[in-house]
Amino acid sequence: MRTQVCIIGGGPSGLLLSQILHRAGIDTVVLERQSRAHVLSRIRAGVLEEGSTSVLRKAGVDTRMDREKIRHEGTLLSARNRSFRVDFTQHTGKAVYVYGQTEVTADLYAARDAMGGVIIDSVSNVMPHDLEGETPFVTYEKDDTEHRINCDLVVGCDGFHGVSRQQIPTSVRREYERAYPFGWLGVLSETPPVSHELIYANHSRGFALCSQRNDALSRYYIQCDVTDKPDAWSDEMFWDELRRRIPDDTADALVTGASIEKSVAPLRSFVSEPMQWGKLFLVGDAAHIVPPTGAKGLNLAISDVHYLSQAMVAYYAGDKDALSSYSETALARVWGAIRFSWWFTTLMHRFPKQSDLEQKLQESDLAYLETSVSAQTSMAEQYVGMPF
Ligand code: APR
Ligand code: PHB
Repeated sequence: MRTQVCIIGGGPSGLLLSQILHRAGIDTVVLERQSRAHVLSRIRAGVLEEGSTSVLRKAGVDTRMDREKIRHEGTLLSARNRSFRVDFTQHTGKAVYVYGQTEVTADLYAARDAMGGVIIDSVSNVMPHDLEGETPFVTYEKDDTEHRINCDLVVGCDGFHGVSRQQIPTSVRREYERAYPFGWLGVLSETPPVSHELIYANHSRGFALCSQRNDALSRYYIQCDVTDKPDAWSDEMFWDELRRRIPDDTADALVTGASIEKSVAPLRSFVSEPMQWGKLFLVGDAAHIVPPTGAKGLNLAISDVHYLSQAMVAYYAGDKDALSSYSETALARVWGAIRFSWWFTTLMHRFPKQSDLEQKLQESDLAYLETSVSAQTSMAEQYVGMPF
């Protein structure tokens, strides 16, 4: 088989890139290790920046998003049994939109199917070859048969555990990493959200987050030990712990119910540089991971796709240099989001052996955020997303 751009990984990055390139007349094949049902069952974060909604709109995947997304013009932060609000729209003129990554992925699959996009799922042993040469190709197995795709360019959209990043020699690749000493225990429940806006809670027992998918579906998280097993937390234990970490009036208003999903996620800051090597380009989680506190993971993947698709369209239009600055351009935005996500994570979580002094410093930082227009503007500007 031959294609112009072979995309490894059919998560949101790979599907969106394939969709945008196809609409520009560039041929792609997407290779996905899991089954489509598996990809569509993954529950991830749910906050889109305005810039992300614009890219999705230009890609023609906006109909359901625009009908169902919920506009949030601010967020609540709490500490010491009280909360305050940061108004995004007042400080930046922008808002964010609650619309689950699971829905974005479903919309992308539907759009790809409607255009006859080629997505080959349940493949194994995917391996790119000759990435420094003129004739790169990708091999993979499906149903015990080996296949080969000849292509011009290869894009690694295969997430943190993918095979693409590893192809960049260690003499060229530099990795920056911090694994946080805690995880998030997340619960999805068919209950009305406790608050119209998200609540990020700092507490001496650990962080908590009240989020949502729609007015009948809530998503809550509590900081936990990264080795905790979700099943070791009964629903009652989860709700009791959540109530302790949020202000009393919010806890009193919390509607609880059976969890329909419960999982533990580790928290990590990670960047691999450069994001391109020869004919290989990395996008999304394949190149960088943020802790979920700033809700930046999917948004960063979308800005990578935006930069790379623009460069590829220019490349195929005849600008042979168009691809050379992709890594530098994408990384500039990536590092901004890495820094913001690290800052917000550090401000809101309880660290092992955290002293009373450090707890007081966090609370003082939050008091500054509550009272300073400059601090709120800075936070709001980064939460709604830097322009791209
Ligand atoms: N071959 C083929 N596919 C692979 C391989 C492989 N060797 N390794 C991984 N994959 C697939 C995974 O099964 C997954 O579907 O690549 C896809 C990567 O998807 P994501 O992990 O969702 O990464 P990405 O598309 O970059 O999306 C970034 O997802 O993880 C969240 O927080 C993150 O919101 C962000 C978004
Ligand atoms: C979510 O709704 O899953 C969510 C929202 C905001 C975050 C992280 C996760 O910062």
